[in-house]
Amino acid sequence: MFHIRPLKVEDVPAITQIEAVSRPTPWSEKQFGDELNNSNSHGKVLLEEAQVIGYVIPWFVAGEIQIQNIVVAPSHRKRGLGELLLNVALSNGVDLGCTAGYLEVRESNKPAISLYQKYQFKIAGRREAYYRDGETALLMNLGPFTTGSETESYQRLIKKQAESLKITIQFRLA
Ligand SMILES: CC(C)(COP(=O)(O)OP(=O)(O)OC[C@H]1O[C@@H](n2cnc3c(N)ncnc32)[C@H](O)[C@@H]1OP(=O)(O)O)[C@@H](O)C(=O)NCCC(=O)NCCS
Repeated sequence: MFHIRPLKVEDVPAITQIEAVSRPTPWSEKQFGDELNNSNSHGKVLLEEAQVIGYVIPWFVAGEIQIQNIVVAPSHRKRGLGELLLNVALSNGVDLGCTAGYLEVRESNKPAISLYQKYQFKIAGRREAYYRDGETALLMNLGPFTTGSETESYQRLIKKQAESLKITIQFRLA
C-alpha cells in the first residue's frame, strides 16, 4: 500500500540516502532540513508501508509551482510513482492558486524530461554549463494559464492522469 504525506524532519535521513544514489549532485541532509523551515516549500514523501521510497519538493511562490526536486528510489522506478508524485505536487499547487510552473533539468536526464513533458511542461531555454560538473540545464515552463478556463482544463488533465495511473494507491495529503 502506498501513502503520500507532507515531508517531516524524521524523513530526512531516509530521503538523503535515496538522493545520494539518484542524482549526480545530491542535496545534503542540511538542504532537506532547510526545506522544512521554508514556508514556500511543500515537500511530500511517498511511503510503501513504513518505508520512504520517493519524494517531491515543490515551491509555490508568486503564483508559480517550482519543482525543486523529485526522486523515486531506483528499485521502485517505472511503475508510475514519479508521475504520481509530480501529479500530487501540481494538483496541490493549482489548488492553491498557482497558474504557472517552472523547473530546471539536466539535458541528459531523458526520464525526467519525458515525465515533465507528459504534464505539458515545454522546453523554454538552455543554460550552458549550469551544473557544477559542466552539464547544460534545460529550463522548462508550464503555462502561464492566463484565463480560468485554461487552469481548469489543466486541472482536468491532472485528474485524468491520476485516474489512469495503473497502480492501486491510497493516499492522503494531511
Ligand atoms: C524521473 C523519475 C522521478 C521518474 O520516476 P518513475 O517513477 O520511474 O517514473 P514513472 O514510472 O512515473 O514514469 C512516468 C513517465 O516518466 C517518463 N519516464 C520515466 N522513466 C523513463 C525512462 N527510463 N525513459 C524515458 N522516459 C521515462 C515517461 O514519460 C513515463 O511515462 P510513460 O510510462 O507513459 O512512458 C526517476 O527516474 C528518478 O527518480 N530519477 C532520478 C532523480 C531525477 O533525475 N529526478 C529529476 C530531476 S530533479
